[in-house]
Amino acid sequence: MIPYISKSTFCDREKELQLICDYIQNGSNVSLISPRRYGKTGLIYRVFDEINDLKLPLRTFYVDIYATQNLEDFIEKLTEGLANVLNKGSVLKNLFKSISNIRPVLTYDAITHRAKLSFTFANEQEKKASIQSIFNFLEAQETRVLLAIDEFQQIREYDGVNMEALLRSYIQPLKNVQFIFCGSKKHIMAEMFTDARSPFYESTRHIYLNKIDRETYASFIEEKFTESGKTITREAIDYILDWTRIHTFYTQTLCNTVFMQCRKKATLLDVYRAIDLILTTNTETFMQWRSMLTRAQWNFLHAVAKEDIVEQPTAGEFISKYKIGTPSNSKRLLDALVEKELILPAIGPQSTTYTLYNVFLSRWLERI
Ligand SMILES: Nc1ncnc2c1ncn2[C@@H]1O[C@H](COP(=O)(O)OP(=O)(O)OP(=O)(O)O)[C@@H](O)[C@H]1O
Ligand SMILES: [Mg+2]
Repeated sequence: MIPYISKSTFCDREKELQLICDYIQNGSNVSLISPRRYGKTGLIYRVFDEINDLKLPLRTFYVDIYATQNLEDFIEKLTEGLANVLNKGSVLKNLFKSISNIRPVLTYDAITHRAKLSFTFANEQEKKASIQSIFNFLEAQETRVLLAIDEFQQIREYDGVNMEALLRSYIQPLKNVQFIFCGSKKHIMAEMFTDARSPFYESTRHIYLNKIDRETYASFIEEKFTESGKTITREAIDYILDWTRIHTFYTQTLCNTVFMQCRKKATLLDVYRAIDLILTTNTETFMQWRSMLTRAQWNFLHAVAKEDIVEQPTAGEFISKYKIGTPSNSKRLLDALVEKELILPAIGPQSTTYTLYNVFLSRWLERI
């Protein structure tokens, strides 16, 4: 699904939108953190849209570094991100001039028209110098620059380079460039920005994205159905929100499926049908995951799904009910599955609770 289409198809996030815009206007950098598929990327584009609507003097760029493994990939993605916005104009020529030492070759995908870049680097020094040149180029732009780097936690995976320290040293002196650092692995992102030993310590204003407010989401769903010439019962909406745990991606997917399949008026029966369709079409993917996990891990996931929410994964009752073994076994399995982003911990003021990250997988496992 596309993360963002337009303001009118985007539900809420007004508070976060306002905060991000305020921080940016005050000259701060922002770190935006949430579990996967809550709507971070969508919100970045929503912010860009707002900046555009308000005609704020900022030029916005977006770079997704999820697929990057090293410095070289980072440079490639960053330059591609800039090239896609600058789109063949004279500013793009200047960007290429500033990194000409690394011999960039730019091609455009014939179908998507998106930029694709390749470079040749003589050595590590050349790579570092080229990042510096790109930031110098941004710093020299007449209009202030806002650069959003999505999946920022990925820089921790780079081999042979302390990317955090490197980036921080380039970013710190910039006066004309601001950043939104966006990421999902909460403990890594939090560590990057709140641990006194990390290079990015206290360099940003944090925003933690939570679930969308239930009533706001319910009104939004009703409104979207009505606007498109259909209706949906409140009972059906409530069922959708409960079943998807208001986890944005899953709520949106189910709503879209119900909308496509129902006639004029969507009822509970249409929701049940849509759920069956979604679970059936995903079965093969779920089975593939099963083959990638150990038997004990799969069994543990199954147990959490059956419980819906687990409050005490090392408690005797849970362990014996699902034959997990010992509390330390349970802890080890839990840690591994959290690390793989298959189980989502929700840290509350009193305790931490656990659910499956993927709501569809959870509901599917619940049934078997
Ligand atoms: N406020 C919103 N209103 C309506 N739909 C939304 C909203 N936010 C996100 N979505 C939908 O939810 C899905 C997930 O959003 P998005 O890709 O922005 O999440 P994310 O947090 O960036 O996920 P990931 O961590 O996997 O990158 C998208 O398909 C998008 O269409
Ligand atoms: Mg995203």
